[in-house]
Amino acid sequence: MRVIPTADAMRAWSLLEKREGRRVGFVPTMGYLHEGHLSLVRLARQRCESVVVSLFVNPTQFLPGEDFAAYPRNFGRDRDMCRDAGVDVLFHPAADEMYAADHSVIVDEQRLSAGLCGASRPGHFRGVLTVVAKLFHIVLPDVAVFGQKDAQQARLIQRMVRDLQFPVEILVGPIVREADGLAMSSRNKYLSPAERREALCLRRALDRVEALFAAGERDAARLRAAMMEIFDGTPSARVDYAAIVDDTTLEPLAEVNRRALVALAVRIGTTRLLDNTVLPA
Ligand code: PAJ
Repeated sequence: MRVIPTADAMRAWSLLEKREGRRVGFVPTMGYLHEGHLSLVRLARQRCESVVVSLFVNPTQFLPGEDFAAYPRNFGRDRDMCRDAGVDVLFHPAADEMYAADHSVIVDEQRLSAGLCGASRPGHFRGVLTVVAKLFHIVLPDVAVFGQKDAQQARLIQRMVRDLQFPVEILVGPIVREADGLAMSSRNKYLSPAERREALCLRRALDRVEALFAAGERDAARLRAAMMEIFDGTPSARVDYAAIVDDTTLEPLAEVNRRALVALAVRIGTTRLLDNTVLPA
């Protein structure tokens, strides 16, 4: 496996791969890798002869006061995990390689980014879309893989690729969970043992909604109330949002009469956790 730190060398490597007829699959990450990330690497590998992972904790997607400085980092471990997973290139740029000191062009989405995480983290998705657009120009992937764990992010990237005509196919991989149901996340590391147990309330709330839906409940307010009961019974949980939205437009639904995304952002202590499930049409 090669570790490439510069954009020019990365682009040159990808151009050569493509010239030799190998498709380039790409998994962008902020590192501190876990099985969720590796599942995306395997998806990329199924479709492409060459696989690139990027590792870059992107400063522009963190708001002032968020955990950019504290975000967990362990380059040696991430590098070994990528090598063991059969990754061909780990793209690991420094911050000044990605952003000129006076950078002033951004990618801003106008609709899908308004609600959910976009409402509670204004500016977050501008940072995500801008860095992913830049990474696509550097890595030149044929296929890029994102996780359903960050459902709104995945929808936004699909929209950016469509609206800005990026020649990249986007795949979305399913949520990988710990044995007890907690969605894997680099931020789970922040949880104390007691918080780790209480963090299961997200999965329990989604289980509850899935069971009610299977029993025929279609009223979004009632489904939401059932989730809120679970959070109200969890002392350290502070709900940022518990939303039932159209899976494509991300607009709130009053009645679940089409494919719906049940999306959660809940703070357990100071750690903000995401989870979601899709209710079929
Ligand atoms: P990061 O949080 O490191 O996640 C990288 C990719 O892994 C994302 O597509 C995310 O949805 C996926 N992922 C995270 N946890 C997962 C899980 N439990 N199961 C399946 N996939 C999971 O998302 C980002 O980084 C950044 O915003 C990035 C796209 C790299 C731009 O900076």
